[in-house]
Amino acid sequence: MIPQQIIDQIKLTADVVEVVGDYVQLKRRGTNMIACCPFHNEKSPSFYVSASKQIYKCFGCGKAGDAITFVKDIEGLNYGEAIRFLAKKYGIEVPEEVERTDEAQAEYNERESILIVLNWAKNFFQEQMKTTDDGQAFGLSYFRSRGFQDKTITDFELGFSPEGWDGMIKAAKKAGHSIDLLEKAGLIVQKENQQPIDRFRNRVMFPIYHQNGKVIGFGARMLGNDKNQPKYLNSPETQVYHKSEVLYGLFQAKQAVRQADNCYLTEGYTDVIAMSQAGVKNVVSSSGTSLTPDQIKVISRYTKNVTVLYDGDAAGMKASVRGIDLLLEAGMNVRALTFPDGDDPDSYLKKVGENAFEEYLKGNTTDFISFKASLYAEEAASDPFKRASVITEMVESIVKIPDPIARQVFYTQCAKVLNISEELLIEEGNRILIKSQQDANKVTRRQQEQAERTRALEQQALGELGAEPPEAGEYGIAVDPITRVIEVSERETMRMLITYGEKSMWEDLTVADIYKGELEDIEFITPIYAKMFQIFLAEMQLDRTPNTQFFLDHSDVEVRTETINLITTPHEPSEQWLLKKIPIVKEEDVLRGAVTQDIFRIKLKKVEKVIHEIKLQIPKANEEELDILLSNIQELLKAKLSLAKALGRPVG
Ligand code: CTP
Ligand code: MN
Repeated sequence: MIPQQIIDQIKLTADVVEVVGDYVQLKRRGTNMIACCPFHNEKSPSFYVSASKQIYKCFGCGKAGDAITFVKDIEGLNYGEAIRFLAKKYGIEVPEEVERTDEAQAEYNERESILIVLNWAKNFFQEQMKTTDDGQAFGLSYFRSRGFQDKTITDFELGFSPEGWDGMIKAAKKAGHSIDLLEKAGLIVQKENQQPIDRFRNRVMFPIYHQNGKVIGFGARMLGNDKNQPKYLNSPETQVYHKSEVLYGLFQAKQAVRQADNCYLTEGYTDVIAMSQAGVKNVVSSSGTSLTPDQIKVISRYTKNVTVLYDGDAAGMKASVRGIDLLLEAGMNVRALTFPDGDDPDSYLKKVGENAFEEYLKGNTTDFISFKASLYAEEAASDPFKRASVITEMVESIVKIPDPIARQVFYTQCAKVLNISEELLIEEGNRILIKSQQDANKVTRRQQEQAERTRALEQQALGELGAEPPEAGEYGIAVDPITRVIEVSERETMRMLITYGEKSMWEDLTVADIYKGELEDIEFITPIYAKMFQIFLAEMQLDRTPNTQFFLDHSDVEVRTETINLITTPHEPSEQWLLKKIPIVKEEDVLRGAVTQDIFRIKLKKVEKVIHEIKLQIPKANEEELDILLSNIQELLKAKLSLAKALGRPVG
């Protein structure tokens, strides 16, 4: 839709280093720039940007591409939007689409016009607040009385709509906007046979933005305490304002959400603004309505972790808690927190101050299942007849969690909090699950086949190692075989390292550089490989890349022997499971893929082992320990999921 020569021009002009540099701090390393990856959480940088090739790649999470894909991914845009975004940054004019049908063109023009008039209205309301007597006396002083600083007022572009019936209409006409357009933008109310009037009158105005920064509607709060008026008046649905897809504050919050890898979800406009002013910038609001699947989809582009903040009012809480199941279903990690005495985040913040507020957030956030269970705990304890309904209520939430392991953990947790037998919960949950399975028949044939294939390969590997196939133990994995599989992984990693360490991976990065960066913090379990990896790291520290000869000449006889073993072991086809889909003969050709796969595989094995170990501790844990174990497991499950995905394996 955008002319090719414009796209080409943008590709030529947009510098990947500049574009990426707007989001992360790049440091030079060799001919590349490096940074901590903005797409996943990491402490040491594995995100590389090549100025000469105009591309980036993260060796941690696998994201890669050029300036355009970067903007797409980080801003959550589609291709066309990304092009326009870059065009704007570089002052390149993008002509209107040429190949649109007249109808599509008209619709497009109309949407653009609506956005223009909404932006104009936002400026108008700001002007009114700053320059008119009423604006200052009522609007500005209202915001100030709520503790909003001038910078906050400017950042959120708050404003004031004048009293009277048509102040805005008149100004709009003067500026050349038609009544028809004002109506389509939701700015006026027009009754049959009557003159149109301003929709928003004598209210303070909160512009609502699309996450791309365009004003798409308004929330408007009344001043004073008129019982005959709604406290908040909002824009109606229009061509550009779709309530169910919008989160108030996301435009201002999105960067912080990504950085914190968590999004606070509140109920009100003022909660967002107050928290943001207090430095908790990763906060949005569903603005009075219950959360919708579309809103969740929008959030999940920026983070998979949501912390829901509830006003402390028990009845309302139970109602909205039900809506949160949507988040669980979407595979989000949900945490929750309530404020005391019917406070909302804004009022509580004002009461206790910024420091105490942050302490409160830190100290009182719990996982969602425990939070919900504790809401119902009293009921279940005091009224045996209510127990059944409470159990159903809880189990319905738990079965929404897609990951079976996480589900198991929450059954345990929930049984504890409600003092109910775990078996009972699981039984109930399984009933619901089986039913929904039958209904939806979600598992495709392909997935099943893949799972079987993986399983067969693992079995084969274990068989070759002389290990018993894993007992179908508590979690389907027995300790010893895991350790042995890890040994094989480590062996393979060392083999790759001593064979190909000096080979170039990417620009001036060697295979050894990549292994060092990615596996530095990983503990090797097999003593000989642990030793060899330490030797390798020590050499790298001295800026030398150890090659095969180095290991063959090493003073330690064990190292020498193992090196010979590693480089002389023939690769029988039976070992191909270690290099799935990668034929051994071509290993060198497909080195890049092989190295990446190898790194992912060894990490996956480590993560699986740790998860297994933590699970063994769960039955013995007290409540406090359980909390820690739970959150550890959640983190690990996330890691496992992304690693398994990267390896193209079925998860579960
Ligand atoms: N809301 C609405 N229409 C109303 C009341 C509320 O759209 N008549 C939405 C607003 O987005 C509001 C949110 O619901 O921010 C939460 O409502 P409430 O808790 O009553 O308001 P607060 O945000 O606490 O606002 P304030 O502190 O200004 O009273
Ligand atoms: Mn409030």
